[in-house]
Amino acid sequence: MLDLVFPDTAEVAAGGHLTLGGCDVVELAREHGTPLIVYDRATIEARASSYSAILGADHVYYASKAFCCIAICELLEGLGIGVDVCSGGELLTALTAGFPADRIIFHGNNKSVDELVSASEAGVGRIAVDSMDELERLSKVPGHSRLLLRVTPGVEAHTHEFVQTGQEDSKFGFPLGDGVALDAIARAQELDGYELIGLHAHIGSQIFELAAFELAARRLAALAARARDDFGFETRELNLGGGLGIAHTDDEMTPDPQEATARLQEIATDSFEEAGLQAPEVCVEPGRSLIGAAAITVYEVGTVKEIPGVRTYVSVDGGMSDNIRPALYGARYEAKLANRMDARPGPLVAVAGKHCESGDVLIKEAHLPADVSPGDLLCIPATGAYTYSMASNYNRVPRPAVVLVEGGRATEIVARETASDLLRFDRHLDGAPVEA
Ligand code: LLP
Repeated sequence: MLDLVFPDTAEVAAGGHLTLGGCDVVELAREHGTPLIVYDRATIEARASSYSAILGADHVYYASKAFCCIAICELLEGLGIGVDVCSGGELLTALTAGFPADRIIFHGNNKSVDELVSASEAGVGRIAVDSMDELERLSKVPGHSRLLLRVTPGVEAHTHEFVQTGQEDSKFGFPLGDGVALDAIARAQELDGYELIGLHAHIGSQIFELAAFELAARRLAALAARARDDFGFETRELNLGGGLGIAHTDDEMTPDPQEATARLQEIATDSFEEAGLQAPEVCVEPGRSLIGAAAITVYEVGTVKEIPGVRTYVSVDGGMSDNIRPALYGARYEAKLANRMDARPGPLVAVAGKHCESGDVLIKEAHLPADVSPGDLLCIPATGAYTYSMASNYNRVPRPAVVLVEGGRATEIVARETASDLLRFDRHLDGAPVEA
């Protein structure tokens, strides 16, 4: 077991090679090419069971936006948990992977009629209703799903602190102010076929402190109390969304998901009981904290440019097309050399991608060995969430392959894109298909 940010099964073998799930990462790179995303099955299973152990598997919904592909959905389906989808494409993936429709919750602030029809026809277990327009659309779509009302509790959590947004400035959900959420509860109860069973709130992502959840739960309990008093509506289910953070660098601490989940359940129960209500069934939708720590991305170093007195740029064969998070959010990562894990770190260097953009820097300050050279395999841990799922073909760079490792075996679960994939949707000037 290596330090905090690597997957649980990470080890350093005798020759200094990184191994994951019993597989030598250098061999994996040789066989599957780079960039390569390697998921450790044991880490995913362990994280999923941290949640299930507290809430029961049927109260845990994997937020598939973190990384959505058939094999990962199949794996999580097998663990008995549910899945949160927020588009027709994620819904299709979950259904194709064999998720029973009643273990699917359908989200989105602008679900189309087609998406609502597909969800209803599939018989999804829950729809998180997001707006009055959606309630209107649903009234024309026959269905039997249970509904949760997505509420914006006016609490927006950031990584280490939270703010209360007075105007509940969000495109998602019903605001608590002005009785809007109460009106929506009344309207949702009238919908034919559907059954409103509870409330939902997702207050942010990469959250390390639970205080923001507590304030949100209190506000939801107050709403639930009003809804009971005004129209006898009983909130049977409370879904607190996702958002638990993970460490991406050695100086961050990952909250223990099992302890945090137990605390969330306590917070929800206490808030409702203090408001004179029956404690609801508590559900969560972890994305990053379930899958983020389970993967590393492996790149090959191609160019090392030293600018004396300024900085050294170590450029790798991927970049912002496979991990947009540093460029988009200023996200911080660490790197190591998978072929020389035991080499001593030298002066700080920048790890850059291969894209035609100065901002394509994956890590501004990385602790790499001083003699890092072309051909070294650089790996970035904690890249399992919101990397491949947000990948693009910027500069016509193909998306990487993804493998899942376990017990010394690696299975390719997403194939590397090929040159002809890149031209697949192009047409010639006269509209004719392109032969790659
Ligand atoms: N439930 C709902 C309704 C959500 O909108 C989200 C994430 C989650 C659950 C899962 O949250 P998690 O446990 O992963 O924090 N692209 C950003 C993160 C966007 C999260 C959007 N919603 C990033 O790379 O940091």
